[in-house]
Amino acid sequence: MAQSLYDKYGGFPTISALVHKFYDKLLNSPTLENYFRGANMERLMDHQTKFLCMVLGGPNNYTGRELGAAHGHLNITPGAFGEVAQHLKTTLEEGGVSAEDVGTILGVVASTQSAIVKQAHP
Ligand code: HEM
Repeated sequence: MAQSLYDKYGGFPTISALVHKFYDKLLNSPTLENYFRGANMERLMDHQTKFLCMVLGGPNNYTGRELGAAHGHLNITPGAFGEVAQHLKTTLEEGGVSAEDVGTILGVVASTQSAIVKQAHP
C-alpha cells in the first residue's frame, strides 16, 4: 500500500505545526479576521488538525461537526474560501510539501467548497 501523506510528512507533530502556521496567516488577514473573531481558536485548531490528519490518511479522531453544519452560520463567500485555500497552499509549500502533494491536498479542499460556501443571492 502506498504510504499516506500523513506518514510521509511526519504525522501528527508536523500537521499540528502546519495548522498553527496556517492560522497565523488567517488571523493576519484583514478580510478573514472577521470570520474568526469569537471563535474558540484552541478548539478550532484542535479540530482542524484532526480533520487534516484524517484527510491525509492518518488516524481518524475527528469528532467535530460535519463541515456544512460547522460553517453554515458564517456566510462564507467564494472569495473568502479562495483566500483560505490560498493561505493553506502557501503554508504547505513553506512547510516543504511537494508540489504534487500540495495539488492533491488542495483538490480535497476544493471538494469541500460547496459545503462551506454560502452562494450569494443577487
Ligand atoms: C478550506 C476548507 C475548510 C475546512 C476543511 C474547514 C474545516 C473546519 C473544521 C474541521 C472546523 C471545526 C468544526 C467543529 O468545531 O465542529 C471548522 C470550523 C470553523 N471554520 Fe472552517 N474549514 C474550511 C474553510 C473555512 C473558511 C473559508 C472559513 C472562513 C472564511 C472558515 C471558518 C471557520 C470558523 C470561524 C469555524 C468555527 C465555527 C464555530 O465554532 O462556530 N473555515 N472548519
